[in-house]
Amino acid sequence: MQDFWNKRYSDKNYAYGIEPNNFFREQIGKLQPGKLLLPGEGEGRNAVYAAKRGWDVTAVDFSVKAQIKANTLAAEHDVKIQYIISNLIQAEIPEEKFDAAAFIYVHLSNEDAEKVLPKVIAALKPGGTFFMECYSEKQLGRKSGGPKDINRLYTIPQIRKLLAGLKISKLVEVEVPLQEGEFHQGKGMVIRAVGLK
Ligand SMILES: C[S@@+](CC[C@H](N)C(=O)[O-])C[C@H]1O[C@@H](n2cnc3c(N)ncnc32)[C@H](O)[C@@H]1O
Repeated sequence: MQDFWNKRYSDKNYAYGIEPNNFFREQIGKLQPGKLLLPGEGEGRNAVYAAKRGWDVTAVDFSVKAQIKANTLAAEHDVKIQYIISNLIQAEIPEEKFDAAAFIYVHLSNEDAEKVLPKVIAALKPGGTFFMECYSEKQLGRKSGGPKDINRLYTIPQIRKLLAGLKISKLVEVEVPLQEGEFHQGKGMVIRAVGLK
């Protein structure tokens, strides 16, 4: 998988653009800046947006190509982000450190998601906010982006189970218009969730 992502990011263009995801922009705008964890952050579009608004951002991703592009984007915007190269499955993420964590289009197998999401939740301080936008199983067969493997797409019951431990304030499956770089284009079926620890 690492090779897949390094290859995708080897183009000079940003695969998902340099603007933040819409749901990310909306949710981060509701919070007071603090420490933000971005697992699977890719080329840094969300990280840089948040850093420019005063967030202390830690991104974790296993793609070195993504890290280079994220750091370039951060430098262009005159902000700094911390970018850790690690596989989320093995990553040791400090507990109760972050005020918020956002999981944006990170498509893990069911088995891996069961290892990673509890770590992300553990990394939040009590009172911290988690939010996510990822493709749902109903995205399968659409050409607007996402994995072609149903085991890497999410369902509402699965997310509800993965977010046990949070007080969920939003959990919906919706169709959204996507215009994010080359790879998220068109109407996508996504799950959006927000929860408080
Ligand atoms: C579709 S991209 C989304 C990137 C970013 N969140 C965004 O919205 O622009 C998925 C990202 O997850 C990362 N990723 C997938 N599986 C991972 C894993 N097991 N460990 C670390 N990173 C992973 C990939 O390298 C890739 O950058």
